[in-house]
Amino acid sequence: MIPVSLAPEKGAYVGLQGKHAALKAIHVSIHFDRRLWREDIDGSLAHVAMLATCGILAAADAAAIADGLRRVAGEIEAGTFDFREDDEDIHLNIERRLIELVGPVGGKVHTGRSRNDQVATDLRLWAQRKSMEIEAGVRRLGDALLEAAERELSRGVVIPLYTHLQRAQPVLLAHHLLAHSEAIERDAGRLADARRRASECPLGAAAGAGSGWPIDPRQTAAALGFDRPCRNSLDAVAARDFVAEMLAALAILMAHLSRLAEEMILWSSQEFGFVRLSETVTTGSSIMPQKRNPDGAELVRGKAGRVFGDLQTMLVAIKGLPLAYNKDLQEDKQALFDAVDTTSLSLAVMAATIRGAEFDAARMREAIDARDGYADATELADYLAERGVPFREAHGIVRRLCDEAREAKLRLSELGIQRLRAASAVVQDDVLGRLSVDAAIARRSAIMGTASPQVKQAIAEARERWSK
Ligand code: ARG
Repeated sequence: MIPVSLAPEKGAYVGLQGKHAALKAIHVSIHFDRRLWREDIDGSLAHVAMLATCGILAAADAAAIADGLRRVAGEIEAGTFDFREDDEDIHLNIERRLIELVGPVGGKVHTGRSRNDQVATDLRLWAQRKSMEIEAGVRRLGDALLEAAERELSRGVVIPLYTHLQRAQPVLLAHHLLAHSEAIERDAGRLADARRRASECPLGAAAGAGSGWPIDPRQTAAALGFDRPCRNSLDAVAARDFVAEMLAALAILMAHLSRLAEEMILWSSQEFGFVRLSETVTTGSSIMPQKRNPDGAELVRGKAGRVFGDLQTMLVAIKGLPLAYNKDLQEDKQALFDAVDTTSLSLAVMAATIRGAEFDAARMREAIDARDGYADATELADYLAERGVPFREAHGIVRRLCDEAREAKLRLSELGIQRLRAASAVVQDDVLGRLSVDAAIARRSAIMGTASPQVKQAIAEARERWSK
């Protein structure tokens, strides 16, 4: 047990007194790391309980500190806490107030730890909690996509598949929407994977050499919900790959949201006219009364870059750092906070965008049926190949037929049986039946394909996976 008289005196840590204004300005982090207050309190509560269990703190002292920490939490929650720049960061602010509230015994909270393991623990906890919130947001967007897919499947809405942004082949709109849900499902998986790896508690590493007190890091790790303590004290305070990994997962997620956003922007243009976005996620123009601008989606597309930048910030901060703790690591927080805020907002915007989207089946159909689209060209090539023509030859034949049809401003089917048969003797009367959009879709019934039963099953399977 340490007697109260040996606890650090209030004011013993000189903090920022007498420092250059510029140093203060660059050094102080309370204006952003106050967001870690709950995790800081939780970490201290677990730490103090462990100190008592290990006989390092008297039970009465531990109880007094825990009580004080709860009062501090109450003040922060109530908005009455006085965050002070002179106290640098959230850790010193809370410790100062704790000592004010419970007296010098409050100073014992820092026994056997350092701000180095404290901040690493706080940020890991914060990241784990936020990662679950983001994953829930991904699920909500996934739900919106699955619901839209289900609805559009029942309406049998067909859309061109594009390659190189050129009309290629017909697919079900539901199939297209499911492609986006596949991508974000992997994003949710990446977040969960990152959480598993980050589930190690740095508390007990102290400044980086480990604690000289007979502490039990297993107890604090378990109390805070981590799978286990970190294995190496230097790594515990120096590691920020858990931040980089989460940022990487968020960056990829934002790339996917941006891609979805881009399609909503493109599709809602007059040129495409495939979708009408809800008034709730679009804005008018201050000058042009007719405008319905897809600002929500555009901002998601624009904000993806911020999150990529946040990842870059973290990678650059760690790439040249000698072990163990260096102040550069303080840069981890704003990057992560910004990425988390930006991504959750973007997820909510895209979920609302998809929920409110009215797809225009007729316009999509028009795009497929367009005279100059030749979305049935692959069908004709397959037809020839099924009748023994090597596919490469069939491809050449149909390519020439497309040129011929384009010249005559006709569809392939409008060339008529005679001209088709002239191109290849294997052509029979049944060829015209093959050149329909519905036939083309129905034939794609193998795994991954766009045939309606496949898509129906894909939706059911996705629902099943998402529900877990
Ligand atoms: N505010 C600091 C940070 O975010 C806390 C750790 C301070 N540690 C130190 N050795 N100065 O990294």
